[in-house]
Formats: sequence, C-alpha cells, structure tokens
Amino acid sequence: MIVRKIENGTVIDHITAGHALSVLHILGIAGQEGLTISVVLNVKSDRLGKKDIVKIEGRELNPNEVDKIALVAPKATINIIRNYDVASKKRVKLPSMIRGIVRCINPTCISNEPEPIQPIFKVEQESPLRLRCYYCKRSLEKNEVLRQF
Ligand code: CTP
Repeated sequence: MIVRKIENGTVIDHITAGHALSVLHILGIAGQEGLTISVVLNVKSDRLGKKDIVKIEGRELNPNEVDKIALVAPKATINIIRNYDVASKKRVKLPSMIRGIVRCINPTCISNEPEPIQPIFKVEQESPLRLRCYYCKRSLEKNEVLRQF
C-alpha cells in the first residue's frame, strides 16, 4: 500500500493511469481548498494493469457530481469511506449531457463568443467517446476532449 487508508472521505479508485490530475481539474479542485488529498499515479492494478487513485479526506463527494470524471476515467469507482469502512462503492456513469468543463473546438461556435455562454454537449456515444455541441452541432471525438485536460 502506497498511501494509508483514510478515516472519512472519498476514494476515487480505478482511474485510467495518468489521469488523476485531470480528474481533480474536472472536479474543480485546485489545491487551495485546504482539503487533505492524496494523489497516486501509475500504480499496479489487477484489473487495469496500471491505475491512478485520488483520496479526499473529510469530504463525501456526491457520486452524481463526480460522474463527469467518466470523460477521462470511465472505469473509476467512487468509494465513500466512513470510520475506515467502505460505506458505498459506485462505478461512475457518464451523464447524458456535459455542461461546462469541455469547450467547443469550433471557433465560430456561440459558446466561444466573449459573452459567457456555458458550453453544453450531448453525449452521443460513450465508447469511443463522442460528444456533440448543443449549439453548433460540431462533434468532438475522444482525443479532442482528452487534450483539453
Ligand atoms: N480505502 C481507503 N481507506 C479506507 C478504506 C478503503 O483509502 N478506510 C481505499 C482502498 O485503498 C481502495 C479503495 O478505497 O483503494 C476501495 O477499498 P476496498 O473496497 O476495500 O478495496 P477493493 O476491494 O480492492 O476495491 P475494488 O473491489 O473496487 O477493487
């Protein structure tokens, strides 16, 4: 074990190797929140070969809020830890719509205008990932999404 067990909080496990920092970015966690967070990159996993892990102490993340990390970590599990026990374990599930986070790559899309319009994408296909812009209907393939994080 590389990082000790936590008493209370959230463990995001089975993150696609190398993507833990993208997961934190998608969750809007930049480090200044004062939360105690452990980030483990590229450790051995029976199931995935290699994986990343994020442990957030003292904060139970709402699994539905966390589902958007499936954009970069479709096999991640969200473990809620209470008094050192795994109180719940849930696999992330990509939401049908993605709001914010991803930008449209069409420079003339209305979501790229100076006035603030939140980008919105429909998840058209989960694997391989394909999103479609709600405004200009431009499609975004997996690599075009991943390179944004
Ligand atoms: N964990 C933790 N602190 C705890 C309990 C668990 O940090 N008090 C972590 C474990 O290290 C593991 C994850 O939470 O990364 C899930 O724990 P557990 O369900 O016990 O592990 P596994 O059975 O290996 O999980 P899975 O079946 O999802 O692979």
